[in-house]
Amino acid sequence: MASRVCDSVLVTGSNRGIGLEFVRQLADSPSPPDQIFAGCRDPNGSSAQELQELAKKHQDVITVVQLETDSPASITEVSKLMEAKLNDKGLNLIINNAGVSIPGSLAETGKKEMMEAYSTNVVGPLLITKEFHPLLCKAAAQFPHQTDMSCRRSAVINVSSLLSSITICPGNFSRAPLYPYRISKAALNMLTCCLAEDFRKDGILVMALHPGWVQTEMGGSQAPLTTTESITGMLKVIAILTEKDSGRLLDWEGKSIPW
Ligand SMILES: NC(=O)c1ccc[n+]([C@@H]2O[C@H](COP(=O)([O-])OP(=O)(O)OC[C@H]3O[C@@H](n4cnc5c(N)ncnc54)[C@H](OP(=O)(O)O)[C@@H]3O)[C@@H](O)[C@H]2O)c1
Repeated sequence: MASRVCDSVLVTGSNRGIGLEFVRQLADSPSPPDQIFAGCRDPNGSSAQELQELAKKHQDVITVVQLETDSPASITEVSKLMEAKLNDKGLNLIINNAGVSIPGSLAETGKKEMMEAYSTNVVGPLLITKEFHPLLCKAAAQFPHQTDMSCRRSAVINVSSLLSSITICPGNFSRAPLYPYRISKAALNMLTCCLAEDFRKDGILVMALHPGWVQTEMGGSQAPLTTTESITGMLKVIAILTEKDSGRLLDWEGKSIPW
């Protein structure tokens, strides 16, 4: 990743898996953002140790923020802190990465499982994007003569999944009959479309990205992709997104996935 993706970015769920690798590759890049806000539920817990070590190594760039993505109080608290640190420049990029995969055949799925998946995978990204909309607008307005959209200017990336695709579902349902996960990620896709239309007037790009099947706690050890490969690919895609990608679902190699 040679050129700078953006000046400022918030990555949610960044203490492990895909989120942690996003923060690592952004910070280690030859031209890192000025500010990386690494959202994490429990910054002082053992599961955040690797992130804290990374933040110590890049202390001028990474700020670890306590962020429970489906808690309005937590989101408001973080946005106040970030606004103060951003010095009136606004926030260029949000990567709504935090997510849960609730295993669930129909027999295993009840109200609790559905609500938990919906709360983290859909309500969280909605609340976060809504709260940070003014800061995204502020960042977009720093490019007054530019009509193009990009992550460098102002954007929201929702980390979705191939399993969200209604078109592809008949071909892969039997391998992963995960009702809460599939349904919540399909709703995240609709949120992506709604936000893309809503924010077009503000110059803010909104799209959904599938990371591939990745070796994380969620993806399991049999997954074909390492986090390094997935995030290297996604950052290449993120760097070249334009207006025509707003409201689309792409994979980690930039290939379009049908809704
Ligand atoms: N791995 C794959 O193969 C794959 C494939 C397609 C899509 N995805 C998507 O990629 C994203 C990241 O997945 P991953 O594989 O890295 O999963 P992971 O290893 O299970 O990590 C999930 C991350 O989300 C955080 N999180 C969950 N609920 C949260 C909440 N309410 N508030 C704040 N943080 C929360 C977790 O924090 P805690 O440590 O506090 O729990 C953790 O940091 C997810 O959206 C997932 O759906 C993954």
